[in-house]
Amino acid sequence: MNDNDIAESNHSDNPHFSTILVKRLSRRQMLTGSLGVAVAGMFGLPELTGQAEAAASASTATKSVPSPNTPFTLNPTLGFEAVPVTRSDTVTIPVGYKAQVLIPWGTPITGNYPAYAPDASNSGVDQEQQVGAHHDGMYYFSFEDNPNAHGLLVVNHEYVDQNVLHTNGPSLITGQRPEDEVRKEIAAHGISIVEISKDSAGNWQVINGRYNRRITASTPMEIRGPVRGSDLVKTKYSPAGTETRGTINNCGNGYTPWGTYLTCEENWAGYFVNRTELAREHSRYGVSTNNGRYRWETAQGGADEYIRFDASVKGGSANEDYRNEPNGQGWIVEIDPFNPNSKPIKRTAMGRFAHEGCWLAPPQLGQPVVFYSGDDSQNEYIYKFVTKARYRKDVNGDILDEGTLYVARFNDDGTGKWLALDINDPYFHAMSISKGVFFMDQADVLVNTRLAADVVGATKMDRPEWGAVHPQSREVYMTLTNNSSRNAATIDAANPRGPNPYGHIIRWREEGHRSWATKFTWDIFILAGPEADSQVLPQQNGPALTQDNIFASPDGLWIDQNGILWIQTDMSGSQQSSGPFGNNQMLAANPFTGEIKRFLVGAQDCEVTGIVSTPDGKSLFVNLQHPGDRSGVNNFTSNWPDNGKVFGHPGEQAVTVNPSGARPRSATVVISRKDDGVVGM
Ligand code: FEO
Ligand code: CA
Ligand code: CA
Ligand code: CA
Repeated sequence: MNDNDIAESNHSDNPHFSTILVKRLSRRQMLTGSLGVAVAGMFGLPELTGQAEAAASASTATKSVPSPNTPFTLNPTLGFEAVPVTRSDTVTIPVGYKAQVLIPWGTPITGNYPAYAPDASNSGVDQEQQVGAHHDGMYYFSFEDNPNAHGLLVVNHEYVDQNVLHTNGPSLITGQRPEDEVRKEIAAHGISIVEISKDSAGNWQVINGRYNRRITASTPMEIRGPVRGSDLVKTKYSPAGTETRGTINNCGNGYTPWGTYLTCEENWAGYFVNRTELAREHSRYGVSTNNGRYRWETAQGGADEYIRFDASVKGGSANEDYRNEPNGQGWIVEIDPFNPNSKPIKRTAMGRFAHEGCWLAPPQLGQPVVFYSGDDSQNEYIYKFVTKARYRKDVNGDILDEGTLYVARFNDDGTGKWLALDINDPYFHAMSISKGVFFMDQADVLVNTRLAADVVGATKMDRPEWGAVHPQSREVYMTLTNNSSRNAATIDAANPRGPNPYGHIIRWREEGHRSWATKFTWDIFILAGPEADSQVLPQQNGPALTQDNIFASPDGLWIDQNGILWIQTDMSGSQQSSGPFGNNQMLAANPFTGEIKRFLVGAQDCEVTGIVSTPDGKSLFVNLQHPGDRSGVNNFTSNWPDNGKVFGHPGEQAVTVNPSGARPRSATVVISRKDDGVVGM
């Protein structure tokens, strides 16, 4: 478990799927390929060619619409030498490639542009004008004048490492946090919007322009969709239940066809405390009964801005306290990066859980718009949202306020079903009566999305992280990072290892290639792990992983415009230092052949997460989150990137860590080919 993981909170009686069906396939059958005959060809290239599926740009949020007649053409070759595992404290990339660091934590981007202080002495006010910490999901929005060399980079800042963020670590003085430390931590969360451009030498830099913006865990936001105005989101700050403050623990991301950014609220529950009776919309998400994760609720001075993190019942009604403050978190938030004055909008129809990210299926004119999302906690679920309105070139974010939220059931026979979480759906209604779980209205269903998914019997998964939708076939790939709480009695065909320390990647194809369908077929793309416990395409009896591609705990995922499936890992510190896998890494895979090669290894104790490229595929943006994750106060376990060793190549001497050397910083890395070719090919 890394520092950001939270414990399982699914205590529903909703069984793992294997216990409610006679399993059609044993794990042994799965691994020896008996199912291979049934599914071989289902995902194969020949059939896809025949399907002539539409192509859509996976990398740009332009209003381009896929043509229904584009032939299936993406079958990439991986044109680089695999990078070996390493513990070097740098970014190791193939020979022929180069890398630069862009917008590390603390980079000034707005206001008075306060310079980054290497001793972490910047104030909270400084941090509000600087790039935040713990870079995660991101997207590149290109400007039409020069799309491959001028854009807005929008980056999530998931959480903070207090030992690194403050000069001497966090302080607690007679049970209270100094106000400016709290202000700095809140400001280091959220999102950065940064205008960037590439010069003639191929180097990217920040433009101190009018689009640059920080959105933080205190920025005012609007609540839209069915939950707007619900009693469940009324607070002292917003008695009408239409607004809330901040977005927390922004993990993966999404983008829309109309050119906006979606940020996703993941492990927000731990930031709150409730010392009174926990309502179900707190308990099912793991709101703490002791103290908030960083004790923001204790900030000296007791400003409303901070005490709102204490969700205990204090007043006579919800309008007198912050009992409902946690209900303002757990959503998908839409941000218009091209309008610096726009207010971020929580799109509540898309459900409330620990959203890892939000992945768009290639939109089709005249059809609903579809987004996939995973709930990253042990034994939680996979969801999709289907808009009610049909896609047209002039739609905007309001299309996200009405639609159907579904949760996935993976049957053991390789089929699956999407179950509507809709108070007017007959099956949902019948199941909620039979289980004695009642919802007042659709707002209640959405605020309690996890409970609604329990009710319909969704399949408990091994911590769903990122998804990626293939731009042509519309197959969906999703990482299931690991699950220490599954065991032999709770395995099922879709989650076949218990415990599952290494994770796997599952994929599914919607019926008729229609992303809005309610039925699908699925198989497993890779069982990750060491050479002795891993397999590519197990249902097709594929090979084990080798030294060129062993990995564990897959997390970030993206399919680029050439059809390369990029896989990023989030192994815990101990899995990195004691396992055979080295530091966290990024691999490239061909989704059809199962060929897979390690492309990049990150610095020590970092996670590799967040990926996007320019439309031409020549500048690949990748985030290194929390290098030196296990640092103590002024005792660092990485010095990247200020150690001066931004990147290196296989065969070079490993870069070692100096515990009293440079303070580590999360940063975006821009990777390109020295011959100016397309990355990965
Ligand atoms: Fe923030 Fe599930 O990773
Ligand atoms: Ca993380
Ligand atoms: Ca993640
Ligand atoms: Ca993770």
